[in-house]
Amino acid sequence: MKEINKYINKNKDRFINELINLLKIPSISADSNYSKDVLSCAEHVSKSLIKAGAENVEIIPTDGFPVVYGEKIFDENLPTVLVYGHYDVQPADPLELWESGPFDPIIKKTKIHPDGAIFARGACDDKGQFFSHVKAFETMINTNNLTCNVKFMIEGEEEVGSINLSKFVKENKQKLSCDTILISDTGIISNNNPSITTGLKGLSYLEVEVTGPNRDLHSGLYGGAVGNPINILCEMISKLKDKNNKITIPGFYDNVQELSECERKDMGRAPFNIDKYKEALELSDIHGEKGYTTIERTGIRPTLDVNGIWGGYIGEGAKTVIPSKAFAKISMRLVPNQRDNEITEKFTDFFKSIAPKSVSVKVSPHHGGEPYVCPTDIPSYLAASKAMEITYNKKPIPVRSGGSIPIVALFEKELRVKSILLGFGLDSDAIHSPNEHYGIFNYLKGIETIPYFFSNYSKLFNKKI
Ligand code: BES
Ligand code: MN
Ligand code: MN
Repeated sequence: MKEINKYINKNKDRFINELINLLKIPSISADSNYSKDVLSCAEHVSKSLIKAGAENVEIIPTDGFPVVYGEKIFDENLPTVLVYGHYDVQPADPLELWESGPFDPIIKKTKIHPDGAIFARGACDDKGQFFSHVKAFETMINTNNLTCNVKFMIEGEEEVGSINLSKFVKENKQKLSCDTILISDTGIISNNNPSITTGLKGLSYLEVEVTGPNRDLHSGLYGGAVGNPINILCEMISKLKDKNNKITIPGFYDNVQELSECERKDMGRAPFNIDKYKEALELSDIHGEKGYTTIERTGIRPTLDVNGIWGGYIGEGAKTVIPSKAFAKISMRLVPNQRDNEITEKFTDFFKSIAPKSVSVKVSPHHGGEPYVCPTDIPSYLAASKAMEITYNKKPIPVRSGGSIPIVALFEKELRVKSILLGFGLDSDAIHSPNEHYGIFNYLKGIETIPYFFSNYSKLFNKKI
C-alpha cells in the first residue's frame, strides 16, 4: 500500500483544490432559491466521478433532487461496496456569524487543526467526507489497488430528510445490490482517538400550531381575559418533560432498549472530559435526563427538543399584542426499538390532550426515520476497524451517535445490508452551524484510510466464502 501514500502525497494539493471547487456550489436542499445550484452540484459530482474512473455514471431523477450514481464493476467474484454520501448542504444562516463567506472556502489554522481546516458550508457534512471516497477511489484505480467492486450513490436530499429516497431504493434494488455499504458522514472522538459510529438515532420531526383568538388582539383590552397562544404553547412544552428531564408522553419509553450494566460500563470507557465539553460550549453546567451520563444521553437515550418557536410580534420596538397563533418545530431522537410513526402518534395524542379549551392545536408531522445499530463482529466492521488501526496507530472505539441518517435503516430494511459508518469529522467542526470546517488532516486521513478498508474487506470477504 506504499504507492497509495505516495500517490496521495503527490496529489494532495490538487485533492484540496478540487474539494474547494465543490464547496463553492451552494447546494442548499431546503431553500428553493438554490434549486439550480443543487442541480449543478449533481452535475459537478457526476463529472468528478467520471474523472476519477467510475463507469456508467448517471444523474438519476427522483421526485426531488437527483441521485448521482457511478460504478466500477470489474470482477463478479469480488465483493461489492456501495458508497453512500450526500452532496446537499444545510442552509448557511445566520450569515452574520460567519467569519468568511459560507461558499467562499478558505483555509485557516485552528487550535484543533494545526495543519489547517477548510471553512465552508458542507466542508465536513458531507462534501469533504464523501469526496474523500471519490479521491480514495481515484487513488486505488491509479495505483492498481482496487480490490472490490464499487458503486457510488450520492444523494441530494439528506439534509431535508431523504423523503424521496425510499421510493428510489425500492425501485433500484438491483442497481444498488452490494455486500456492504460504506458511509463517511459521521465523526471520530478526536484526531488522537479514532472511533467508528455503531449507532444512529431515529427521528420524529413535527410542527405544532396553537390558535387562540381569530385575530391579533390589543394586549391591554383583552390581556388576562383571553388565552395567549404563546404563553399556552410554552406551558404545554414545559409539560413534555418532568423535573428529572424524563419525557412525559405516555408510552414514550415503552420499547426503549435498555443497555446492560456491562454495556454501559464499556461506553463509559470512551475518552470524555466533561470540563472540556463545558468549556468548548461556554456552559457553566450540563443538562439532561437524570441517571445517565452525557455520553449515554446522546448515544442511547431518546430525547425531545424544540428546534424553533415563533409567533406574535418580533420586529423592531414594541407592539402590545396578544397573537392569534403560536408555532414550534419539535424533534424527538429515537433509539432502538422505538418506531417513528408510533412516537409521532403518541406525541400528537398527548399534545392535544394537554391543550386547554381556550386554544385549538394542530400537529403536522414533517419527516422521520428509524434508529440503527451496527454490530462490531461483522467482516465489514472489522475491516473498518483494522483500517483505522493502521492509519491512526490506535484501535478505534465503537461509539453510538446522537445524529441521524434515516437512509441507513432504510438500506437495512430494503437491501438487507448493514452500513459501516466510517466518518472522519469532529464534533467541533461546527456542522449545521456558522463557520463549519473540515481539517485538512481529517480529509487526507480519510483518503488514506478508505483504501485499507477495501483491501481488508476483500480479504475478510474471501474468508467468509
Ligand atoms: N451527517 C449528519 C448526521 C450525523 C452527523 C450523524 C454527525 C452522526 C454524527 C446528517 O447530515 C444530518 O445532519 N442528519 C440530520 C437528520 C436529517 C433527517 C435532517 C440530523 O441528524 O439532524
Ligand atoms: Mn451529513
Ligand atoms: Mn447534516
